[in-house]
This record gives sequence, C-alpha cells and structure tokens, in this order.
Amino acid sequence: MTLLEVIHAFAHDSAVAIVVTDAKLEKPGPTILYANAAFERLVGKPVAEILGNSPRFMQGRETRRPVLDNFAQALAAGERFHGYLTNYRAASHKYVVEIDCRPLRNADGQIEYFLSFQREVARRRGRPWGGVASRFEPVAVSSDSLTPNLKLLSVFE
Ligand SMILES: Cc1cc2nc3c(=O)[nH]c(=O)nc-3n(C[C@H](O)[C@H](O)[C@H](O)COP(=O)(O)O)c2cc1C
Repeated sequence: MTLLEVIHAFAHDSAVAIVVTDAKLEKPGPTILYANAAFERLVGKPVAEILGNSPRFMQGRETRRPVLDNFAQALAAGERFHGYLTNYRAASHKYVVEIDCRPLRNADGQIEYFLSFQREVARRRGRPWGGVASRFEPVAVSSDSLTPNLKLLSVFE
C-alpha cells in the first residue's frame, strides 16, 4: 500500500475534510494528490476536478493575503499551519475554513507530502474573549471513528 492508499483507507469516510498535496511549493504547486469525500463536499467539486489542482483554486477576493503569507512561511519552514481562511465554493459562495496543515516526512526527514485537515466554521456571535480560535466555531460537530484519533493528534487545537 502506498501512503496515499493508507490515508484513503483511514480517511475516506471521515467527517473531517482531508486533502493531501505533494511537497513542491513553487507555483503552480503544490498539487493536490488526494481529497476525501468530506473535502469534495466542503469545496463543492467532484474529486476528479480537484485532483491535480493547487489548493489556491478556492481563494478569492476576501481570502486574506497576510494569512496566506503565514501559511506559505509555515509550509516553507516545514511547520504546522493552523489558521482560518475565507474560501469560495463557486465564484460567489464564500465560507470560512479552519485549516490544520502538517508536513509528512519520510524516514530521512524529507517532506514528501502536506496533509491538511479542514472544516467549515462560522464566526461566533458577540466578541468572545481569547485568541483567534475563540472567534470561530465549527458549523457541524462531527463524531466518527476518526474523531478520537484526531484528538490524539491535537487536530484543530
Ligand atoms: C495540504 C494543503 C492544503 C491547502 N489548503 C488550502 C485551502 O483549503 N485554502 C487555501 O486558500 N489555501 C490552501 N492551501 C495553501 C495554498 O496552496 C498556498 O500554499 C497558499 O496560497 C500560500 O502560498 P502562495 O503565497 O504561493 O499563494 C493549502 C496548502 C496545502 C499544502
């Protein structure tokens, strides 16, 4: 089994959206190699139209450049990125997505893939006290066989 097949076996039916890219960050990369069913629903496109694209296809006018710069820096440094971005399902249907993106390294320590857990969030009412995470909440609370494992990996935390 290849790593992508292992991820497919684990993640295909997960309620959390999962997308895997290669490690080539220079434009037009990175290239999407795997997306699960929840990612198809999140971005509103069939997987056949998702594979081979860069994840930039969901970006639009209100996708904030400073957050993308932080994202790009984290990827280049081989670090985890946890943040919130405005993305688009179609030209006009925007949503806020929480992204937890991590490098997958081989035994030599080289990054081979990036794997991102994603879920749609909504802005909380009022002015919650705390960091940026306290300003958003997931639109759906998911609980499936992968949920306890994501907790162990501190996904979205
Ligand atoms: C695994 C992975 C998933 C990503 N998912 C998204 C996403 O859902 N939405 C988004 O706007 N950018 C996403 N990105 C970030 C873009 O691909 C790109 O890295 C970002 O725009 C910063 O690079 P740039 O400054 O060259 O545009 C993802 C990147 C990776 C590696």
